[in-house]
Amino acid sequence: MNYSRIIGTGGYLPEKILTNAELETLVETSDQWIVERTGIRTRHLAAEDQDTCDLAEKAARRALDMAKCDASEMDLIILATTTPDRIFPSTACLLQARLGNHGAIAFDIQAVCSGFIYALTIADKFIKTGAARRALIVGADIFSRIINWSDRNTCVLFGDGAGAVVLESSTQPGILSSHLHADGAYKDLLTVPATIAQGRLHGDAFTKMQGNEVFKFAIKALSQVVDEALAANQLDQDALDWLVPHQANIRIITATAKKLKLPMEKVVVTVSEHGNTSAASVPLALDVAVRDGRIQRGDTLLLEAIGGGFTWGAVLLKL
Ligand code: UT7
Repeated sequence: MNYSRIIGTGGYLPEKILTNAELETLVETSDQWIVERTGIRTRHLAAEDQDTCDLAEKAARRALDMAKCDASEMDLIILATTTPDRIFPSTACLLQARLGNHGAIAFDIQAVCSGFIYALTIADKFIKTGAARRALIVGADIFSRIINWSDRNTCVLFGDGAGAVVLESSTQPGILSSHLHADGAYKDLLTVPATIAQGRLHGDAFTKMQGNEVFKFAIKALSQVVDEALAANQLDQDALDWLVPHQANIRIITATAKKLKLPMEKVVVTVSEHGNTSAASVPLALDVAVRDGRIQRGDTLLLEAIGGGFTWGAVLLKL
């Protein structure tokens, strides 16, 4: 049996930190409200001259270093983002050029906050079928560019960053199963509704969210998809060493942990310092816990995310 295994992780957060106290000067909010309702204390913001590919490149190089691989050895590059540098070429192609890889398959995935889970799943299929041997998977977003900084419903939630993993074909168990879903009926609950025509942007290019509706759906969908992942592998909750969830809101994370009967010590939480970094959220959290030694080789991990679309999914894997 051919598995895909993670052999390296990497992450990058831009230098500038935005605190809740600074947000209090921009919109009518308070540190207390933000911490109580979301768990977020700080988030990182990209500098004006940084683009998504810059963030992606830093995370990718760190993952390649850990994997002891050269970029030229990758035969697949998938980059999940909602904030690409250009309409085209894809940011994956821009990253490929920066890394000096020539000829690998390279494309972007747009599944908003679930983008990394989608990208990892697609890469796993390529590797399992023998169509690729080594893959670089990146989640990178500069959500601060599509946030209206006078809208308190959204501006307190998001941050910028990038996370990456290197996957390799292996006979040892790696990704055990993945479970993806989407339902476009919810397209208006979380959206940037702008379109481009005649060379111009039409409509509103800021993130709009009906937070409470998204919140309720997220709790239900994530609870179902984590059950689905366990059932598909005939595992029960005790088999899990770590939950690595999408970092949107601590209340959503604790609800999923409770559903899994997992103590919070087995849940990787970065939302407090990172905020919601969209496609970067899960790989960044994974990288933090791998590098600080909490997550060890051989551990069983459950990764999950939900985002605009709605899209949602989970990946169960052995590291
Ligand atoms: O990554 C993609 C998935 N995204 C998510 O998972 C986000 C899901 N949603 C959420 O995390 C939560 O719904 C929010 C954090 C966005 C909001 O928390 P909530 O507990 O659902 O609050 P709410 O929207 O029901 O609003 C409660 C009150 C409202 O005031 P009234 O109507 O009760 O007077 C809001 O106007 O809180 C008010 N409010 C704020 N107050 C201070 C909303 N935003 C803020 C704010 N500061 N930033």
